[in-house]
Amino acid sequence: MVKIEKFSVRQNYSLYLQKKLLAKILAIESSCDDMSAAVLIDGDVVSNVIASQLIHEQYGGVVPEVASRQHLIDIVPVVDEALKNAQVPLNEINFIAVTQGPGLLGSLLVGVNFAKSMALSLDIPLISVNHMHAHILSHFAENPKPQFPFLCLTVSGGHTQIVKVIAYNHMEVLGKTIDDAAGEAFDKTGKMLGLPYPAGPIIDKLARDGQPKFKFNLPNMQGYDYSFSGFKTSVLYFLKDKVKVSPEFINDNLNDLCASIQESIVKILIKKLIKASQDTGITEIAIAGGVAANSGLRSKLEELKSDYNWNVFIPKMQYCTDNAGMIAVAAYFKYLDGNFSDQFLIPDAKLKF
Ligand code: KG4
Ligand code: ZN
Repeated sequence: MVKIEKFSVRQNYSLYLQKKLLAKILAIESSCDDMSAAVLIDGDVVSNVIASQLIHEQYGGVVPEVASRQHLIDIVPVVDEALKNAQVPLNEINFIAVTQGPGLLGSLLVGVNFAKSMALSLDIPLISVNHMHAHILSHFAENPKPQFPFLCLTVSGGHTQIVKVIAYNHMEVLGKTIDDAAGEAFDKTGKMLGLPYPAGPIIDKLARDGQPKFKFNLPNMQGYDYSFSGFKTSVLYFLKDKVKVSPEFINDNLNDLCASIQESIVKILIKKLIKASQDTGITEIAIAGGVAANSGLRSKLEELKSDYNWNVFIPKMQYCTDNAGMIAVAAYFKYLDGNFSDQFLIPDAKLKF
């Protein structure tokens, strides 16, 4: 039987510090429908491999059981490729990092169990990472890097938050969505237009050839919290009314509808970000998460930066959607703090921020 030592990890860590070994972290991300593995050497991401699952398109959304079964197939080749691209042999890896949550439990289980087994077999420390922290810390994989404190608008398929980032491992959520996430608002309104899942990137593409000429209800919430449900309902009833009169309305106006939906979602997101910046006096402004890939949001921020004297940080595309590079970066800062996990780690679908 394998004896599990709860504190051996810390002893190992002080050994690493004494020997001044370079941190070579192998990171694994499997929280939803992307399987990704990355290698980081002393703060720099040197490989970041992502295998996306296209199979969910036909179901109009991610099917959790299908996602976790596909992860089982993908994990070994993806990890292999990440190591090969980094030109780092497995026996030189000295830390294993993994997403603990939030996400789909079945998907998380694949990554966490794989990472635990690797850490155990290689006898090296394990570092668990909060997926949402990692989206924010992906800004430290690139240059220029934001200065602390900065505000990060984190917009993905499951989350919409304004976070005050005080230090690498010290963050406060100022506001969050009370219903749908921004990515869901894109995906669900896209579904109403008959677009496949995930509709966000398709709306973005179609919006480029359209005009935002249709207006929908925008929320009027106090504070920094978001809500997208009223907007979604307003798109639904608008389309129903129009299609009743002209059955081809959606096809005939697809580009303009996409431009209008995108403009509305960007307006909702930006309004609270401006308020948070004005109230806190923080002018270092970052965005992160899948919706940070949206060209409407990216160009709006570029446009606003001179109005509000903002330093704007927009991640490269590969760091917007789910990837293990950001998990490796977040793990690196936990390593510097000496903050490790052990073989008792369990995935947490609803892991708190
Ligand atoms: O961060 P992410 O890859 O996964 C989650 O953790 O959820 O975000 C996925 C979300 C989906 O809702 C997708 O439609 C949206 O990000 N998304 C976009 C774009 N690219 C991805 N939404 C709008 N415009 C895009 N270009
Ligand atoms: Zn994500």
